Amino acid sequence: MIGQAVEASREVMAPQVVVLDVCYRTMKNYNYLVVDRASREAVIVDPAWELDKIEGAIAAAQAHLAGILLTHSHYDHVHLSKALAERHDCPIWMSKLEVAVSGFSAPQLVEIEQSPWSVGELRIEPIPTPGHTPGSTCFRIGGNLFTGDVLFAEGCGLCPDVPAAHQMFASLETLKARIGPDTRVFPGHSYGQPPGRLMSELRRDNIYLQFTNPDSFAAFRLRRGQDRARLFDFR
Ligand SMILES: [Fe+2]
Repeated sequence: MIGQAVEASREVMAPQVVVLDVCYRTMKNYNYLVVDRASREAVIVDPAWELDKIEGAIAAAQAHLAGILLTHSHYDHVHLSKALAERHDCPIWMSKLEVAVSGFSAPQLVEIEQSPWSVGELRIEPIPTPGHTPGSTCFRIGGNLFTGDVLFAEGCGLCPDVPAAHQMFASLETLKARIGPDTRVFPGHSYGQPPGRLMSELRRDNIYLQFTNPDSFAAFRLRRGQDRARLFDFR
């Protein structure tokens, strides 16, 4: 019995995910504060637009911001990263490749590749998923996957050309192979569905996860007539 109790106490508690919807004019993003329940050490994903809201969430969670995860370099995903890194004296993590192609720089920048690392009891696993940008990266933390502009509940991120769309197809195949059905998916934007849907639901409902051929996928991803209002209207 004592052995069992010790074993139970070693179990890592599921991280707390605080969902923040932030906006600036027509730009609407989701930021995620991920908190280790034991130590209150926390990371934030793609912080943008509303500094007071983010600081309020950190304070309300009684968390210590230990670092900033950037899925890619687009402005609506990195906007507040430098300000927060300075205020909290913490690192900004972005993929080495994304840094190279974007020129993103910051005094606190730490370039990452594929090796996982830990913040408190949070194990952060970067998964390279190019396509939307060459260095786009998803982050798995426990049973949660933070996908930036790679995978949305309703679709996937824009790709500039056929080679990028082929990369996106391969990235989605990677996620299909590596991410379990019970993992919750937290994208950078919503087009109607709430963040945190299960991977099994996306596997069933997301049309971009149904393709089996990279050329068919690329032709559909790059099809004509996709204006902003109809991006996720497949009728
Ligand atoms: Fe983007």
